[in-house]
Amino acid sequence: MKPMLTATPKTQQVKKEIDQLATAALTPEELMQGIVKKLNERMLKYNWAGFYLLENKPGQMAELVLGPYVGAMTPHTRIPLNKGICGAAASTGKTQVVHDVKSDPRYLACSIETKSEIVVPVFVHGKVVGELDIDSHFPAAFKPEDQELVEYCARVLGKHLETFRR
Ligand code: SME
Repeated sequence: MKPMLTATPKTQQVKKEIDQLATAALTPEELMQGIVKKLNERMLKYNWAGFYLLENKPGQMAELVLGPYVGAMTPHTRIPLNKGICGAAASTGKTQVVHDVKSDPRYLACSIETKSEIVVPVFVHGKVVGELDIDSHFPAAFKPEDQELVEYCARVLGKHLETFRR
């Protein structure tokens, strides 16, 4: 695939490492764990990285449930779709980039150290099934190349989920 205009040598390299994880992973759980660990280790401003998975139980409101993550414990283990930056990403199906979490009234605080956040939906056959959430202790940490990298990771998981058979 042709590198995106926004990619940097660093993000290109990390994407290759993500591809290797996807090839080796036997389950979506293993791939999600690998992706959050990799992003947290390789991208120095990615201080918290985690997946939320959409839970759709008949007769109940859909909610996001915390999946594999790396970083501080969060009180937000379940998030309704009308709450938070996480709810916004899942309900609109659009990436949310927040350069200053303090100025966004939707923001649900996880750590007082968090200054900026990106949340990217994960799609399976065109439907949102979850999302990848990254928090940074640095303001405006998520540049176009970061968005491109995190969206790449979400696509890799979506493809894995589409082909995975238990
Ligand atoms: N900040 C998110 C909540 C999740 S924690 O950051 C891990 C939000 O506003 O939806």
